[in-house]
Amino acid sequence: MSETIRRPVLYSAVQPSGTLTLGNYIGALRNFKLLEKDYDCLFCMADLHALTVRQEPAALRRRTAEVAALYIACGLDPEKSIIYAQSHVPQHAELAWILNCFTYMGELSRMTQFKDKSARHADNINAGLFTYPVLMAADILLYQANVVPVGADQKQHLEICRDIANRFNGIYGNVLTVPEPYIAKSAAARIMSLNDPTSKMSKSGEPDSFISMVDDADTIRRKIRRAVTDSDGEIRVDPENKPGVTNLITICAAMRGCTADEVCALLAGKGYGALKDYAAESIIEVLSPIQEEYKRLVADKAYLNDVLKNGAERASGLAMRTLRKVYKKVGLYQL
Ligand code: TRP
Repeated sequence: MSETIRRPVLYSAVQPSGTLTLGNYIGALRNFKLLEKDYDCLFCMADLHALTVRQEPAALRRRTAEVAALYIACGLDPEKSIIYAQSHVPQHAELAWILNCFTYMGELSRMTQFKDKSARHADNINAGLFTYPVLMAADILLYQANVVPVGADQKQHLEICRDIANRFNGIYGNVLTVPEPYIAKSAAARIMSLNDPTSKMSKSGEPDSFISMVDDADTIRRKIRRAVTDSDGEIRVDPENKPGVTNLITICAAMRGCTADEVCALLAGKGYGALKDYAAESIIEVLSPIQEEYKRLVADKAYLNDVLKNGAERASGLAMRTLRKVYKKVGLYQL
């Protein structure tokens, strides 16, 4: 059966190369089920992108299914949204090749992520790392996506995707939808590293610098207790001078669905110990029902396989339409 798309299309992808963090939850996952109301959504596990750095094969395989399970545990409905693995839809690699021929070496070498990653993986500066943004453009353009939620680190990649689409359309007519960045209605809180609150919380940081979405209660308490604060002892928002305390307040507010001021008022006159306890318990309260559902889902391999298979079939049906058009436009022989 072919998929019919009526509402604007939202495309989102994550590399299944590590665990998802509390930062991912607050910045993205907790809003997914709201997006589902207004958009036709695709949620992709970008396993091909993950291969641009060396992966442990068994771990990559396992994490791909785990991300899908977490998405569903956070409330996504796999009947509505298309949840799938990138490698299950061959059209991604096919469109990426075509788009490679419409992308300049110069613009790819200006990508900051390429420069950063080649510095960090100096022993493995492979061509995939270089053409990473082209595969990402293919991901988005295959589905004629209207909006793509991206964090600051992916903005440049969305920009080059738009440039490639405009370039292609300039030559062949309006073939590809030029995507816009998705801007959340309420500005997303930026969650910082626990041991270096001036940098973003990231799954590639030190283990104690982030809360994994699947950390158990004791681990969460321990990590929060160790979080870096400051020595003035006052609980107030001041990102400049008190980034650690501000980060904990931000986390509390996000978990409780209240404002930072309300958190400060509640804890006024108390010490950082109280702030940390409150933060840890707030996180645990939100994450534990999700974790329970997650555990149930990862244990049900048959169900997850069904979801991924169904997602891949639906995605492929949509992707095929764009790819056919593109092949025809560029002059590939049609049978
Ligand atoms: N590069 C993105 C990241 O690391 C993941 C990604 C791959 C992506 N393809 C995408 C994000 C398409 C948005 C749209 O976060």
